[in-house]
Formats: sequence, structure tokens, C-alpha cells
Amino acid sequence: MDARTALIEALRWQLFWGADEAIAEAAVDRFAAPSLPASAAPASPVRALLPMDRTIPAPQARAVAIAAAAGTLDQLRQALAAFDGCPLSETATNLVFNDGNPETGLMLIGEAPGAEEDRLGKPFVGPSGQLLDRMLASIGFARDRYLITNVLPWRPPGNRSPTDAEVAVCLPFLHRQIALVRPRLVLLLGGLAAKALLGGNAGITRVRGVWRAVEVPGVEGPIPMLATYHPAYLLRSPGAKRQAWADLIALRRKWDSLH
Ligand code: URA
Repeated sequence: MDARTALIEALRWQLFWGADEAIAEAAVDRFAAPSLPASAAPASPVRALLPMDRTIPAPQARAVAIAAAAGTLDQLRQALAAFDGCPLSETATNLVFNDGNPETGLMLIGEAPGAEEDRLGKPFVGPSGQLLDRMLASIGFARDRYLITNVLPWRPPGNRSPTDAEVAVCLPFLHRQIALVRPRLVLLLGGLAAKALLGGNAGITRVRGVWRAVEVPGVEGPIPMLATYHPAYLLRSPGAKRQAWADLIALRRKWDSLH
């Protein structure tokens, strides 16, 4: 590989991983001897490879534009399936978009697909989904009475925790999905969903069980959202089911008050 091809490949690799902005004219080697005076700094090899009149949009900016162009859930699903700005799509088997009924006014948002969800292309079909189904059935909500989705539509390899960059690039699609569904109530499952929609850094133990009025881009007026424990956590810590149960009762009461 010649030097130019190697540079292009290096640039491609950086773009793939989300580097979208050069913060200096040249890479800084912090291990090297004292820096050159500005006038002697070498020209950026990256800049030399790019057409001067073209800026590369950040994956997140592309995500916002692509998501905004989707006028229906079906178009949004297709846009996500074609989106190459999140590296998780490379390692996942299937896109996991949503399941259930988008017409009821109730939306549930989890974290990311696991192995079973990735295999079947459907959210919450594995062990935590089965627990969730039982919990929701106990307050009268079968799956055809809500729409369920995740912050991330692709499984992180080995079920590792999603990175902030992965969440950031997928969030515009989730916002758009919420804007298209226009739910009257949203239940957030677990800390990642709570953080992504409510903002802030407080953990799920602090934020669960309290209704919040949440502004979502593209939606007029705030949407009431309630965070609770993720069912996968409840499988590991059955002692927390008592609080989750209280949260579900609060959900049902609020739902009834709207009807
Ligand atoms: N956990 C989630 O957060 N989502 C799924 O779809 C499955 C497990």
C-alpha cells in the first residue's frame, strides 16, 4: 500500500469510528520532542485529501437530517436500515426497530437488543422481555396495547454497555420515532433509557418512580415519562421488584386518569 492509499484508509477508518472534525491542522504526537513553531508546522495530510469545498457532516447531524425526512414509521425503519453512521449496525444480525401497537398512546423504551432480539429482529423477546410481558400483563397491558422500542436499534457486541457516541448517533432516530408515534405516556426501562430521554447523570435508583414532563424534539408540548428498573436488572435483583411494581401501578393510574 502506498503512502497516499494508507492515509486515505486511515482517514476512512477514523470516519467510520465517528471522528468528524479535525481540531488542528496536523496530528499532535505528544510523545515527540518539543513542538515546532506554528510557521514550521507541516500541512495537514488529511486536509490535503479532502475537497476544500466539502465538509463531512457528523454522523449525528446526518442522523438528525435522515430521521427528520421520515414521515412514517415505515420510512423511519427503512432509513435506519440504510443508515451507516453507527458502527453497531456492522456487527448486529438484524435491525431491531419496534414491536406492538403504535396507535394506543403508550410507548415503552428500553436500552438495546440482546442476543435473542438480534436474532429475531424484535425487541424484548428474550428472558427480560418475558418478565416484562408478565409484569405488564399484570396491570392489563398485553403487547398490543403499547409500542415497545429501544434507545439503540442494534445489539452491542457481546451485550456490552453502549457507548455515549452510539447513543448520541441513534438518539435522533428515537426522537423521530417518538414524534411520529406521539405517545401520551412513556415508560423508560432502565438507566440508559432514563438518561437518554431525561438527561442528567442521576442513576435509575434516583430517577425511577417520578413522573417527568419531557420535551422531545419535533413534539409539541412535553410528554409525561416515568422511569423504572430494567427487567434484566429485576432478574438479577428480585428484591427491586417491589419498587417496579409500585411504578407499574403509578403507570396504570396515570393511564386511567387520561381515559
Ligand atoms: N433489553 C433491552 O433493553 N431491550 C431489548 O430489546 C432486550 C433486552
